[in-house]
Amino acid sequence: MAASDYVTRYGKWAVIAGASEGLGAAFAAQLGERGMDLLLLARREAALAELAQRLRRQTGVEVRHLALDLAHPAAAETLAPAVADIEVGMLVYNAAASQMGRFVTMEQDALERMVQVNVRGPLTFLHALLPPMHARGRGAVVLMSSLAGMQGSPGIAAYAATKAFNTILGESLWHELRAHGIDVVASCAGAIRTPGYLRTYGKEAPGILPPEAVARQTLAALGKRPRVVPGLLNRVVAQVSGRLLSRKTAINLMAGSSNMP
Ligand SMILES: NC(=O)c1ccc[n+]([C@@H]2O[C@H](COP(=O)([O-])OP(=O)(O)OC[C@H]3O[C@@H](n4cnc5c(N)ncnc54)[C@H](OP(=O)(O)O)[C@@H]3O)[C@@H](O)[C@H]2O)c1
Repeated sequence: MAASDYVTRYGKWAVIAGASEGLGAAFAAQLGERGMDLLLLARREAALAELAQRLRRQTGVEVRHLALDLAHPAAAETLAPAVADIEVGMLVYNAAASQMGRFVTMEQDALERMVQVNVRGPLTFLHALLPPMHARGRGAVVLMSSLAGMQGSPGIAAYAATKAFNTILGESLWHELRAHGIDVVASCAGAIRTPGYLRTYGKEAPGILPPEAVARQTLAALGKRPRVVPGLLNRVVAQVSGRLLSRKTAINLMAGSSNMP
């Protein structure tokens, strides 16, 4: 689809949940370049305000921002007044909470945070934003998922399970909604060079991609397929571990990559 067709095909506004930096900011920039007005969501007000100003200058589109914590149970209610006067044509649910470590020693708070941000967040946002898209017969949804959600991933068990949830949710909605003019894609990314990734791991992984490439390949898959794995190396890894390796071997390899004996 040509960049200029996004507004016609999907609607005027894109809501990006988790937009203050990295991949979320890359989605925002690329949707702004395609002429969509932007509502940017994240916790850090100052980072959002700075990005909003830069994107207004670079793209000329209208950009609003709203600071909210997606871990809060009332996040969708907080969003409601901000979207009351706009036509939301696209939801990109990019934000995620992640916690590494052994499941048995993980704090209850960290587990609940992952469920809230990664599972309840997309469900409640979709529940709020899909009905008007459905009524208009146009719209789009991007759910950020991960290769970690394609098999058991020791060391990030709960995070990986939330990502599997997003992949299956996206694939299911891809089929349910396509007859109603709504394109859905689940993006199963490998390592992405985001500030968050570099803060957590401190070094780069093989095949790591810049956020701009992940955003571009994800948007290119909208309307074409239910799931996308950005990056050739990641696609090879996904094919090999999903089709050629036994489930046991695939899980053991994941354990090795996160140093879990
Ligand atoms: N990075 C990787 O290697 C990688 C690999 C596979 C999949 N993914 C997936 O790609 C997506 C983005 O990855 P990332 O986190 O590395 O990059 P990111 O897009 O650079 O950062 C995450 C964004 O979400 C916001 N956010 C986080 N928690 C939030 C909360 N509770 N409420 C509101 N906003 C929140 C952050 O802003 P504030 O801090 O300002 O709130 C930030 O803008 C995630 O869904 C992740 O699971 C990433």
